[in-house]
Amino acid sequence: MILVFIFILSVYSADVFDYVDLFYGTENGGHMFPGITRPFGMAKVGIDVINSKYGDAYSGYALDGDINGISMMHESGTGGAPEYGVVSQLPFTGEFNNNEEITIGRTQQDVAKIGLYQISTTNVDIEFTASERSGFFKYNFKEDGAKILVNISHHLSAPSRPWWTQYFVNGSIDGELSGYTGYTTIKGGWGLQQPWTIYFCGKFNTNASNIISFQGSSQENDSHASSTTQDDSVGLVFEFDNDVFEIQSQVGISFISKEQACSNIDSQDDFYSLIEETKQAWNEEVFSKFEVETQNETLKSQFFTNLYGCHLIPSNRTGENPNWSVQPTYYDDFFTIWDTFRTLNPLINIINPVRGGEIIESLINIYKYDGWTPDGRSANQNGRVQGGTNSDIVMADAYIKNISIFGAEWQDAYSAMVKNAEIQPPYWYDPKAPDASTKQGRGALPDWLRYGYITRNYTRSVSRTIEYSYDDFALSVVAKGLGNEEDYEKYLDRSTNWQNIWNHDATASGKSYTGFVQPKNSDGSFNYTMYDPLSCFGCYWGDDEYEGKPIEYGWSVPFDIITLKEFIGDDETFIQRLDDMYELHGTKIADVGNEPSFNTPFLYNYVNQQFRTVELVRFIVDKFFQVGSGGLPGNSDGGAMQSWVIFALMGIYPIAGTTTYLISSPFIEHLKIKLDNGKDFEIKAHNLSSENIYIENIQVNNQYWNQNWVDHETLFTNGGSIDFFMTSEQKIWESGNEPPSPGHKTS
Ligand SMILES: *[C@@H]1O[C@H](CO)[C@@H](O)[C@H](O)[C@H]1NC(C)=O
Ligand SMILES: *[C@@H]1O[C@H](CO)[C@@H](O)[C@H](O)[C@H]1NC(C)=O
Ligand SMILES: *[C@@H]1O[C@H](CO)[C@@H](O)[C@H](O)[C@H]1NC(C)=O
Ligand SMILES: *[C@@H]1O[C@H](CO)[C@@H](O)[C@H](O)[C@H]1NC(C)=O
Ligand SMILES: *[C@@H]1O[C@H](CO)[C@@H](O)[C@H](O)[C@H]1NC(C)=O
Ligand SMILES: *[C@@H]1O[C@H](CO)[C@@H](O)[C@H](O)[C@H]1NC(C)=O
Ligand SMILES: *[C@@H]1O[C@H](CO)[C@@H](O)[C@H](O)[C@H]1NC(C)=O
Ligand SMILES: *[C@@H]1O[C@H](CO)[C@@H](O)[C@H](O)[C@H]1NC(C)=O
Ligand SMILES: *[C@@H]1O[C@H](CO)[C@@H](O)[C@H](O)[C@H]1NC(C)=O
Ligand SMILES: *[C@@H]1O[C@H](CO)[C@@H](O)[C@H](O)[C@H]1NC(C)=O
Repeated sequence: MILVFIFILSVYSADVFDYVDLFYGTENGGHMFPGITRPFGMAKVGIDVINSKYGDAYSGYALDGDINGISMMHESGTGGAPEYGVVSQLPFTGEFNNNEEITIGRTQQDVAKIGLYQISTTNVDIEFTASERSGFFKYNFKEDGAKILVNISHHLSAPSRPWWTQYFVNGSIDGELSGYTGYTTIKGGWGLQQPWTIYFCGKFNTNASNIISFQGSSQENDSHASSTTQDDSVGLVFEFDNDVFEIQSQVGISFISKEQACSNIDSQDDFYSLIEETKQAWNEEVFSKFEVETQNETLKSQFFTNLYGCHLIPSNRTGENPNWSVQPTYYDDFFTIWDTFRTLNPLINIINPVRGGEIIESLINIYKYDGWTPDGRSANQNGRVQGGTNSDIVMADAYIKNISIFGAEWQDAYSAMVKNAEIQPPYWYDPKAPDASTKQGRGALPDWLRYGYITRNYTRSVSRTIEYSYDDFALSVVAKGLGNEEDYEKYLDRSTNWQNIWNHDATASGKSYTGFVQPKNSDGSFNYTMYDPLSCFGCYWGDDEYEGKPIEYGWSVPFDIITLKEFIGDDETFIQRLDDMYELHGTKIADVGNEPSFNTPFLYNYVNQQFRTVELVRFIVDKFFQVGSGGLPGNSDGGAMQSWVIFALMGIYPIAGTTTYLISSPFIEHLKIKLDNGKDFEIKAHNLSSENIYIENIQVNNQYWNQNWVDHETLFTNGGSIDFFMTSEQKIWESGNEPPSPGHKTS
């Protein structure tokens, strides 16, 4: 055993793991999951707390509060409301009284590193790790009377957002002295899920001496408990002999059956070896591909910690869809594509094209077997579309970057996209936005087809119009590649629809320039009720724009900046308007904690004034993204924020669905990514310092380069490099063509 340990350790440089802070973004509304998982793993084992002064815990964890379960499934970094927190255990000592919720308090802060989570309490110390589809717990009791609670009604809930809370529906558990099997059925949550079932299988390494069942208000010496009604408390308590102080338990989960849950328990039955295997999985898939050189240790930690956070969801659930009679590639937990399409999916397509390809296969399979691609999805159900069908852009991004989708067909991907673009999704009642479907597809699609914009008869009419334009651009990209010239023209035409809601005469208080996107009525007139380019009012489901002001959404057409520039007038105004978006030069208009403004700081490149991009990106990273548990400026959004930071630190930025990367400037002296094709991608920043942030000149693949953008093939198809020669002077070094606008239609 010791030999195995040393052998595995020697394979990776353990020190990279010391740079990863699992608690990054767990405070300040980040809702990051700090528990243990493998990259995109189905099991995400972590603690669930109640009574936190920070409010509802969306990924189970909070710094304070009492632990009421350590459970097998979580989302990470989400907003909205918590999902999962199911299949739990909780070790305790002392009397059991089912009328009181069992909770345990911590005596010091939790400690977590990739592969191992540690909790200290007065009566028991807890450690756990995870494999793909199972968890492994190790309890060290400090006094007699060891007990383990298996509460099958345990789940995360949202006391402060009761309309989106989850409910326990029913469940059943059968115990024997050496373990248990059963299932739990849950409904509700952010996606308003219909009841769904998770099966489980738990094993102890030491037999219990007695089993107590509890069910509602009754409690007896029995090894079976079940509930057929919404019961608030059902489960078993395993009691151990007084001389038992250390207990280990392995728990498997499955959406298919108890048997599959048992077979999902990892065959590695040595706790410490499983920790090493989990570390190894992270190293192989993620960290071994990166070499990062910088004198700044904080920056290194920032880089690796953000990189880690890009690999938590979606979850690989291949073989685990209970609704499908066949089990092709399947990922769940898209929470949500609205957040991730701009930077997370493009990042995965660079550093991990196998995952990128499997994600596309999954989207195709979800379309084939469930009817529609998702925007938000968890517990095997599509649910909640905030704007457009942005899976279209994820597909176009992978397509144009030549990502292999293995056995799947691009023609099927395209069929899914065409369905999104042409077929109105069935009505689904959403109390937050009852006007049109938010389950899947494009709500209010008939308006889009009839008027070329979403009228103000519908909620989110402005943000939907902007996003449907980008989505149709994505269709044009794939149509063109598949040789479908007619569709290419059609969807390229439709991608110009955002222009229909640009009111050239709209004014904003205190701004000398005019022209903003604005809600429009079905008769073609602009609607001025509750309209202000600088406000989105509630910025939510029932408003004209979702999580972004009209002035922010105006920038959200990166596929056709040429037309946007024409609308804006001249380069000087374009720059003025960009300056006005952020506190660096103006007032705070853009919200860096929400995704609609992700691209905006980079848009100075389109007027060949890249040094302004450099300044602004530096400003945003330094001001809004710190290390530590409060380091994110709000929800991580499933890794969307982290992927934005990774690109910012590297000095390149993708325009999703196109081959373009805009160039900013790196924070790191030397970065190397080992690509899956065996080639390297390398970034070097010569003479970088806290003053030398600007670019004197650059070389791409060792040739001087006069454009502030590069395409995918040049950097990644056969490997590539960018050498940045840094200076302290603001300099317009780019004399070449401005970045392309592939969605620009010349008539
Ligand atoms: C089991 O979980 C439910 C739901 O979270 C909770 O209400 C109940 O008190 C728990 N039971 C025990 C014995 O802790
Ligand atoms: C442990 O319990 C199982 C039944 O759950 C039983 O088959 C087995 O013999 C027990 N082992 C010992 C060592 O008592
Ligand atoms: C279960 O049995 C044990 C001993 O056989 C007894 O001490 C205990 O009171 C019983 N508990 C219940 C809830 O019946
Ligand atoms: C549990 O709830 C589900 C969903 O409501 C229902 O279909 C099933 O019949 C219930 N199971 C039992 C045993 O009542
Ligand atoms: C090191 O990096 C951190 C995080 O980006 C930054 O805040 C800090 O200013 C840097 N320190 C130096 C000396 O450049
Ligand atoms: C996803 O899970 C399936 C089933 O376990 C596995 O075959 C596949 O290799 C996994 N994908 C990756 C990229 O690891
Ligand atoms: C999965 O199957 C269940 C039970 O047959 C059904 O209620 C549910 O709607 C199905 N889900 C999907 C996404 O098709
Ligand atoms: C795309 O990939 C295929 C096979 O993997 C290869 O033949 C082709 O040259 C690639 N195209 C580009 C543009 O990289
Ligand atoms: C849209 O709203 C207008 C009033 O602004 C109303 O006259 C019209 O009937 C509505 N159209 C639909 C299809 O509901
Ligand atoms: C680096 O900067 C120093 C001054 O700080 C300058 O003398 C030197 O030429 C620069 N080197 C490069 C490679 O630009």
